[in-house]
Amino acid sequence: MKFFIDTANLNDIKEANELGILDGVTTNPSLMAKEGITGEQNILDHYVAICNIVDGPVSAEVISTNFEGMVREGERLAALHKNIVVKIPMIPEGIKAIKYFSSKRIKTNCTLIFSAGQALLAAKAGATYISPFLGRLDDVSTNGLDLIAQIRLIYNNYVFDTEILAASIRHPMHIINCAEIGSDVMTGPLSAIKALANHPLTDLGLAQFLADHAKGN
Ligand code: E4P
Repeated sequence: MKFFIDTANLNDIKEANELGILDGVTTNPSLMAKEGITGEQNILDHYVAICNIVDGPVSAEVISTNFEGMVREGERLAALHKNIVVKIPMIPEGIKAIKYFSSKRIKTNCTLIFSAGQALLAAKAGATYISPFLGRLDDVSTNGLDLIAQIRLIYNNYVFDTEILAASIRHPMHIINCAEIGSDVMTGPLSAIKALANHPLTDLGLAQFLADHAKGN
């Protein structure tokens, strides 16, 4: 399973990248705003800064909600760097834009996926990735993992190339559950990625090894 980090924070991106396990980055307008990145040129420059840290796909989201606007914005984003993936919302105009970008071999990430039908449409339009929002489904008492499993089954049935990018990951168990189901990618915060490394028996064991070593020296 590929590991993407879901942030626009350059320090977190650098830290995850230095672990050596990072495959890509996803951002969204809220994450950009959280970092105080505003204004068109600053936003474009920030995407380039991210691409200069990580050698992998970097999702950059369009703001337009009509086909023409999405195409204009998406082409500008894609021209920034070879690793930019144009992130497009799951709305009818977005499906048209995904189809357009697919015909131009520009990679897309269809975002805000909350149902299997949406995932099927995005795959038929030729999306490179689809982002089902696991945590936000869990937040409204709906099992987000069930949706990922349903999409996995559908994509396997028809051998769609579209990759399932499990998004809105909140904690390490989400990552493990997505890996069990066979999600192609997960995107989550640095905290959830780093938490995978933690185990109290590892800490206890290491403390014991170091203490025993110290006794003999
Ligand atoms: C995905 O691409 C989104 O950026 C993200 O995962 C949303 O996560 P949230 O529900 O924690 O905001």
